[in-house]
Amino acid sequence: MSIEQLAETAQAMVAPGKGIIAIDESNATIKKRFDGVGIECTEENRRAYREMLLTTPRLGEHISGAILFDETLRQSTRDGVPFTKVMTDNGIIPGIKVDKGTHALAGFPGEVVTEGLDGLRARLEEYYKLGARFAKWRAVINIGETIPSGSCIDANAHALARYAALCQEQGLVPMVEPEVIMDGGHDIDECYQVTEVTLRSLFASLYEQNVMLEGTILKASMVLPGTTSGEKASVEEVAAATLQCLKSTVPATLPGIVFLSGGQSDQDATAHLDAMNRMGPNPWPLSFSYGRAMQSAALKLWSQDLVGNVGKAQETVFARARDNGLAALGQWKA
Ligand code: 13P
Repeated sequence: MSIEQLAETAQAMVAPGKGIIAIDESNATIKKRFDGVGIECTEENRRAYREMLLTTPRLGEHISGAILFDETLRQSTRDGVPFTKVMTDNGIIPGIKVDKGTHALAGFPGEVVTEGLDGLRARLEEYYKLGARFAKWRAVINIGETIPSGSCIDANAHALARYAALCQEQGLVPMVEPEVIMDGGHDIDECYQVTEVTLRSLFASLYEQNVMLEGTILKASMVLPGTTSGEKASVEEVAAATLQCLKSTVPATLPGIVFLSGGQSDQDATAHLDAMNRMGPNPWPLSFSYGRAMQSAALKLWSQDLVGNVGKAQETVFARARDNGLAALGQWKA
C-alpha cells in the first residue's frame, strides 16, 4: 500500500465539515447501552439498530466514516444490502475496531493495557478484503492518586504503535486512540499533564515503529476536570487547554485529529469542538469521532418503538452530525 493512498484516506476522514460516527461498541458495551433503555441485546436488535444509524438519509453530508465492530462489518440491511455497500454508496468510509479491549496490567494495580496484537496481521488482511479502510485501537489511561505510571503509558503507547505499523502494512489508516479517562477527582491541570505525557510517549513510539504520520489519524480526549472534582471549566478554558496540549505534542504532519466524547453531554462535546476551531487556524483539521454524543438521543427514541420511530431517530442522528460538522468548521450556533 502506498503512503499516497493512506494519506488520501486519512485526509478524506477529516474533510472540511465532516467527522466520524463511532458505532464500534463491543457486544458487552452495546448491551450496557441497550440495558439503559430496556432493549434486549440480541444479534437482530444490534443489527436493526446499526441499520437505523447507517441508513440515515444524507448522513454522508456530515459524516466521512463510521467505525464498526467485527459483527457489524459482516452484517446487512433487512433487505440484504451489506452495510459496507450502504456506507460507500453514501461516501462514508468503513472503519473497524481491532483491539481486544483492556486487561489488567500485571504489576500495576488499577492500570490497564489494551490487548489484541496476536494474529492482528491476518485479521487486518481480512478486514481490508471486507471493505474497511481505517482501523481503531483504544488505549485507556486512568487518573488516580498514584496513577498513571510511566510504565502503563509506555506499554499502551508501544501497543498502539505496533498496531499502527501493522495497519499501514495492510493498507488501513490507523486511528490511534489514547483515551485519558474523565472519571476521577483530579483537576484540569492534572488532566493536562497526563494527556501531555501520554501524547509524547505515543508519538515517540510511533516514530520508533516507523509509522508514517501522513497516513495516521489521532483520536484524542479533551483536557477536562475530573467528573467528581467539583471543578467546572468553561468552554473556552477546555478548548484552550486542549489546543495547547495538542500543539505542544502532536507533529503538524499529522493529517487530522478527531475527538472522542468520553461521557460529555452532547452540548459540551459540540461546544468544545466548535470553540477549538474558532480559536484557529490550527496545525491540523480538528473534528469528531463521537460515539455517545452522536447516538444517545437517537437510541432513546428508537428504543421507544423499534419500527415506528426509525425516521424520528434518524432525524436526531442527522441533526447531531450536522451540528458536529458545523463545530468542525467553527460555525456551530448553540
Ligand atoms: P465516545 O464518544 O462515546 O467516548 O466513544 C468514542 C469511542 O469510540 C471510544 O473508543
